[in-house]
Amino acid sequence: MLRSLLLSAAILGAAEAMRAGVSSRPLRAVAARPSGVAMGLTFDESKAMAGDPNMKNYRKLSDALKEADVERRKEEEAAMAALKAEEDKRNRRKKKMEVMRAIPDSAPAGKVSDFMYRDGVTEVLEKLDNDMIGLQPVKQRVRDIASLLVIDKMRRKLGLDTSIPSLHMCFTGAPGTGKTTVAMKMGQILQRMGYCRHGGVVVATRDDLVGQYVGHTAPKTKEMIKKAFGGILLIDEAYYLYNAANDKDYGQESIEILLNVMENQKDDLIVTLAGYKDRMDKFFSYIPGMSSRIGNHIDFPNYEPDELVEIAKVMARELEYTFADDAIPVLREYVAKRMTLPFFSNARTVRNAIDRARMRQANRLFIEKLDPSSDGSITPEELQMFTKADMPTAAELEALGESAIVE
Ligand SMILES: Nc1ncnc2c1ncn2[C@@H]1O[C@H](COP(=O)(O)OP(=O)(O)OP(=O)(O)O)[C@@H](O)[C@H]1O
Ligand SMILES: [Mg+2]
Repeated sequence: MLRSLLLSAAILGAAEAMRAGVSSRPLRAVAARPSGVAMGLTFDESKAMAGDPNMKNYRKLSDALKEADVERRKEEEAAMAALKAEEDKRNRRKKKMEVMRAIPDSAPAGKVSDFMYRDGVTEVLEKLDNDMIGLQPVKQRVRDIASLLVIDKMRRKLGLDTSIPSLHMCFTGAPGTGKTTVAMKMGQILQRMGYCRHGGVVVATRDDLVGQYVGHTAPKTKEMIKKAFGGILLIDEAYYLYNAANDKDYGQESIEILLNVMENQKDDLIVTLAGYKDRMDKFFSYIPGMSSRIGNHIDFPNYEPDELVEIAKVMARELEYTFADDAIPVLREYVAKRMTLPFFSNARTVRNAIDRARMRQANRLFIEKLDPSSDGSITPEELQMFTKADMPTAAELEALGESAIVE
């Protein structure tokens, strides 16, 4: 090191002289001085140079200049890297301190339930339990993730080392099984616990991420990433990003950007992929780096007919409707039949059935109340009640035949 510094100093002096327009003579004279050490050269080097023809001295100097330059650049880079590492460490520490400061000092670690309550996590989990029918394995997984984050937060409070596992997720399941809805709940949980800034969900498909021509894809993907920063980027049917038949497909570029962000900006963005399980597994087999960056692979099962009826009740409740007792078996028979037909979309099909029921109920009330035999007044109960007559039926589906699939 000392040797290299001395050599650099000598070389810089010489280079300065050259830049100042001094001829090569004084430079050679300098190089030929007997005291190599005074020049910043070791004794052996000065001896070797003294015996060399002029050209050799020039070569050696220019080589040394280059060498010194490379070495200086390396040292600068190392210094910059050290500064950046120091800054990153400071930022991480600052973030940790902020989280710790946000927690009152009343108890050394506190109770798990206190943490869950204070952050509002319990509220979101209860809402998930009440509003979403079935989905036991999914709910359990969400609770597991929430528990891990609570424990992580408590460890932070005690100053223990914590490393958050990957929060990126993959939701597999058929259409209408609740993937987007659960992603939104996850966003709320993560936001309440301070793992993302706003917890909002931006839904993207291939068309939002991949361009039509060269240079179009990167800005599109980056734009969506920017939109989702601080929350969740939910990529529906993510496997369409990869086209196995064409390795020049622009989707590849989008995948590479996503992989990079998932690895290096996981504090700012949680990526969730959604789609059918078999296609997603195939996609992962082509892009193994994607699967390994995802910490939570959650499978959404199809609903049973009884669960679909319960879902219908939840949806009706949210819209301030109720079902007459005799309407329920009709609805159950309808969903059981609809399940056997193509393009069945689980809870979404139920939502469509309810929309149809609302229309029929309105139409029924309209006809009934405009009839001369009626005084035209409608009770609150009538406005809220779905009767058997309002329900779409299995018999109608059968009568529709092939065209039933659009229902
Ligand atoms: N278990 C459930 N309980 C109550 N409502 C549900 C349930 N699952 C889904 N829903 C409702 O069904 C509708 C469709 O759900 P969602 O959009 O989350 O499904 P998805 O899996 O994302 O569908 P897709 O694959 O087509 O995007 C939403 O209105 C949602 O609230
Ligand atoms: Mg969805």
